[in-house]
Amino acid sequence: MAKPGDDVPIRSSEITSEKDYASRPKPGVPPDPEPDLGFNPARRRFIRNAALAVGGATAFGGALLAITKRRGGAPPPELSALPALSVAETPSARALASVALASNDTPTPLEDITTYNNFYEFGLGKEDPAFMAGTLRPRPWTLKITGEAHKPEEIGIDDLTRLFPLEERIYRMRCVEAWSMVIPWLGFPLGKLIERAQPTSRAKYVAFKTLHDPEQMPGQRTQVLPWPYVEGLRIDEAMHPLAILSVGLYGRTLPNQNGAPIRLVVPWKYGFKGIKSIVEIRLVEEEPPTTWNRAAPSEYGFYANVNPEVDHPRWSQASERRIGELSRRSTLPFNGYAEQVAHLYEGLDLRRHF
Ligand code: MTE
Repeated sequence: MAKPGDDVPIRSSEITSEKDYASRPKPGVPPDPEPDLGFNPARRRFIRNAALAVGGATAFGGALLAITKRRGGAPPPELSALPALSVAETPSARALASVALASNDTPTPLEDITTYNNFYEFGLGKEDPAFMAGTLRPRPWTLKITGEAHKPEEIGIDDLTRLFPLEERIYRMRCVEAWSMVIPWLGFPLGKLIERAQPTSRAKYVAFKTLHDPEQMPGQRTQVLPWPYVEGLRIDEAMHPLAILSVGLYGRTLPNQNGAPIRLVVPWKYGFKGIKSIVEIRLVEEEPPTTWNRAAPSEYGFYANVNPEVDHPRWSQASERRIGELSRRSTLPFNGYAEQVAHLYEGLDLRRHF
């Protein structure tokens, strides 16, 4: 794996073994016996209402492709073409760099991280974002910090990354669809940005919002989900040092399909909490709405902590398939970060607050 800061161009052919590439799940082909856990049912329900969708994801993808082509869409650049980022080497950054990672948690090949995505603004198929997200313009980009803050602000993305030293965090990522990856993110603790905004005593939750611009995000022309994508955390979760805002991976600027220019990463929660292409972070008093909870409240809760003992209403969460591996692994409570985060939920009924 390239070390952040090394100015070594990463070519996918150098990183992905043929075996890994061949064994990865293909769009339209179930990746394992529990494909698309949780997403297909909601997807089907929304598709029924969507003007574009006739016959499911393929039709959606086709329509989206047509929209994107009409608008001159192009695939995003290869990671090797994106600017390299340099990384802080402070003791605290080093201490958290690979916290709780086991020896069999090797980083997932770059090719998989950037071609097997969920980003419904660019289609429903796992490979769609890698083909479609070239229409997203991640620069210039402004992030607003609003709401219950003494110092709300609007910051340009490049000023923001200069404010905080970037750290590498190699985290497991567990999707509610029961697949997982290990991703070497670059970013900074979300808590540092929140502290800077000086929350008022009424700030109990943090709400996040993705860009809403159907020109750049053609999937927003459909009603497959309520747009814009929104997410939320309790403020103590947001202040936890493991919660980061990521602006890069594998030592380089974040590719569009992974949520450029800035996305949330909360490694102990299911991947859908990791909202992409964020334009606003709002400190609020009440629990904010979240996209998948709005879409299917009985299936997706606000907390979404990885929990092998609390199944999705129709499917087990007890095990998962690591992308690139053939056999399944047991899913760990809080995705293996229990020692770091379980105390946040003392006294909370995790079955009720799933
Ligand atoms: N953010 C937005 N704006 N739109 C999305 O569709 N998908 C979520 C999350 N963030 C999504 C999003 C889901 S379901 C997952 S699993 C992760 O992004 C996937 O992140 P990745 O594609 O970088 O692996």
